Amino acid sequence: MRLSVFPRKITNLQICPAQQILIPLILSYIFTNFAPSFINYKTTTLKNIVVIGAGTMGNGIAHVFAMKGYSVNLVDISQDALDRAIATITKNLDRMVKKERITETDKSDTLGNISTYTDLKEAAAQADLIVEAATENVNLKLKIFAQMDEVAPANTILATNTSSISITKIAAVTQRPDKVIGMHFMNPVPVMKLVEVIRGYATSNAVTETVMDMSRQLGKVPVEVHDYPGFVANRILMPMINEAMITLHEGVAGVEEIDTVMKLGMAHPMGPLQLADFIGLDVCLSIMRVLHDGFGNPKYAPCPLLVNMVMAGKLGRKSGEGFYAYTAGSKDLVLADSFK
Ligand SMILES: NC(=O)c1ccc[n+]([C@@H]2O[C@H](COP(=O)([O-])OP(=O)(O)OC[C@H]3O[C@@H](n4cnc5c(N)ncnc54)[C@H](O)[C@@H]3O)[C@@H](O)[C@H]2O)c1
Repeated sequence: MRLSVFPRKITNLQICPAQQILIPLILSYIFTNFAPSFINYKTTTLKNIVVIGAGTMGNGIAHVFAMKGYSVNLVDISQDALDRAIATITKNLDRMVKKERITETDKSDTLGNISTYTDLKEAAAQADLIVEAATENVNLKLKIFAQMDEVAPANTILATNTSSISITKIAAVTQRPDKVIGMHFMNPVPVMKLVEVIRGYATSNAVTETVMDMSRQLGKVPVEVHDYPGFVANRILMPMINEAMITLHEGVAGVEEIDTVMKLGMAHPMGPLQLADFIGLDVCLSIMRVLHDGFGNPKYAPCPLLVNMVMAGKLGRKSGEGFYAYTAGSKDLVLADSFK
């Protein structure tokens, strides 16, 4: 076999069949892992961003990219979710204008940078980077990544905002595992500085460096971590939230008492039960299940109260009720009836 990319002298060498297979494999490994400068993505040339999922996180991610001048295609299966996302982004930008942190022109430029789609194929045709922020469900994410791999250009970086699902597992359903990476933004995205950048088993150095760089360009602080259940943020945070629920479930103290202990005693800005409502109880449950399955350790078993509340549709702020009850337009923290 003639390896046309090799200089003539090398191709004239006698190469046995095993070497014919091994040499390209070794070279590809070296290129992806040790020579980022050969295949560097220039963050300045990444212009078209696709965000999949227009919920709590998706609208925040679209907001920060659009504010930095990127063209953002926001995709959701639900037109309602897309409409709500644009309304939320507008409301958040209005607040920034009111505080004189941005001008009216910045606001309209940001909104002008966002287009909404219900069709992924159409949205992803020119994508440089896709950030998936759909519902935290393994099978759903595997399906979306297989689809993204099919419809996005071959060099597009495929990132996921998953809170806990294995990047390596997600990458394995694509033909480009070296270009799949975790880009874990925190809630609320426009405010929180951290981006946890998670390398899957095959993620290349070039892709990791690009995503770290891109996060800095968004004004965030990226931290690189390896791919184990819950990564760092949720491996530490979620067992604490789950323990707060167990403490409540066992009757050790009430919702407000638990939150007050953690706020005043540990200087947490928000109690763990209020934080669970803010994150979404369905998201908390999914993360606990990933930790439980991933480590096989009973200490990660989700609290039965959490399981029941999710089954009952009490998902926290987004459904209007969790440990607290939420009314649109009100900032008061009101205990939910079930916990009075
Ligand atoms: N909520 C948090 O505080 C938080 C923080 C960090 C990371 N995350 C992660 O971000 C991701 C999104 O979480 P969220 O809280 O925004 O969820 P959410 O429930 O608020 O929104 C999910 C959105 O995904 C959409 N969706 C579902 N299937 C889809 C598909 N096939 N194509 C396109 N859109 C689809 C839904 O319609 C919904 O609008 C999850 O992976 C979650 O673990 C959440």
